[in-house]
Amino acid sequence: MRWLVTGGLGFIGSNYIRLALRERPELSIVNLDAMTYAGNPANLRDVETSSRYRFVKGDIGDPTAVDSAIGDGVDAIVNFAAETHVDRSILDPEAFLRTDILGTHVLLEAVRRHNIARYLQVSTDEVYGDVSEGESREDDPLRPRSPYSASKAGGDMQVLAYWTTFATPVLVTRGSNTYGPYQYPEKLIPLFVSNLIDDQPVPVYGDGLQIRDWLHVDDHARGILHVLEHGALGEIYNVGGGNPRTNMEITQLLVNGCGRSMDAHVRHVEDRAGHDRRYAIDTAKARAIGWAPVVPFEDGLRATIAWYQANEAWWRPLKSGEFLDYYKRQYAHR
Ligand code: DAU
Repeated sequence: MRWLVTGGLGFIGSNYIRLALRERPELSIVNLDAMTYAGNPANLRDVETSSRYRFVKGDIGDPTAVDSAIGDGVDAIVNFAAETHVDRSILDPEAFLRTDILGTHVLLEAVRRHNIARYLQVSTDEVYGDVSEGESREDDPLRPRSPYSASKAGGDMQVLAYWTTFATPVLVTRGSNTYGPYQYPEKLIPLFVSNLIDDQPVPVYGDGLQIRDWLHVDDHARGILHVLEHGALGEIYNVGGGNPRTNMEITQLLVNGCGRSMDAHVRHVEDRAGHDRRYAIDTAKARAIGWAPVVPFEDGLRATIAWYQANEAWWRPLKSGEFLDYYKRQYAHR
């Protein structure tokens, strides 16, 4: 069995490849990754010498690169490749449209051309938009509100349209906010932990009472694997952690976990434009096919803080160069 995983040098993709190679001994994986700022070979150092793993550098928007990664065939494609950071999509939306919509289109065409048996699109709960109460279900209308989530929604729509029009064998997962090892330090948790380790302030947008539902990356990777193997074609599955927390609650846990103080480290700064207040998803459909998250949130967060404390050599080089330019653009005026 051979799968093409795209964007496998990123956060969720690399954790997924490690899990799948460990748990499916008959499986080999080709990883197609464009190595943008968030694609980091260090995320997969431990598997890169495996005979069951092959890396191809290339963009999902480039049909030649996709064909060469597919080679003489794969049984499935799992698409993690995406521009993912909301703040960057506000600064510079174009790359999001290119990768998240056009890149998805190129992959769907490759699925048709090569008669690939399964295509899974890794998507996000952000496509539902802000939900002030209740939980989003898979058939709810999409109301994306940032260039990022609008691009992801565009990708999902293409995927589902290919199912309707061409019977392309597709699946979609919509994950909630994911945390754990190997997450690029622009996101809330790794940014705050690495700042706190360095005794630096942490920038809380607005009042910090926005709510996100937190999911450990192992649970997310297992959810994607489960849907790939057990999901019904043409269907969407929400994959959520069931751990709703305000950003201030997260900040308090991180500050405590790093042995710092709220007064000395928390800075309330200008809010994100169009900031969604709350996401929440109903995961009954994924649970009905046998998946459920298992990592207790407080344990997972404690282990994640410990991982960043023990792996400064992984994240410290990432907080230089391009990251510092971005950090200045994003935070200096705040
Ligand atoms: O919900 C799933 C989504 O979660 C994924 O689709 C996205 O790819 C991923 O980036 C994430 O989106 P968020 O915008 O929720 O994640 P982020 O870590 O950027 O922010 C989490 C919350 O923390 C959000 O309410 C904004 C806030 N925040 C974030 C940063 C980076 C701050 O208050 N300060 C910050 O510096």
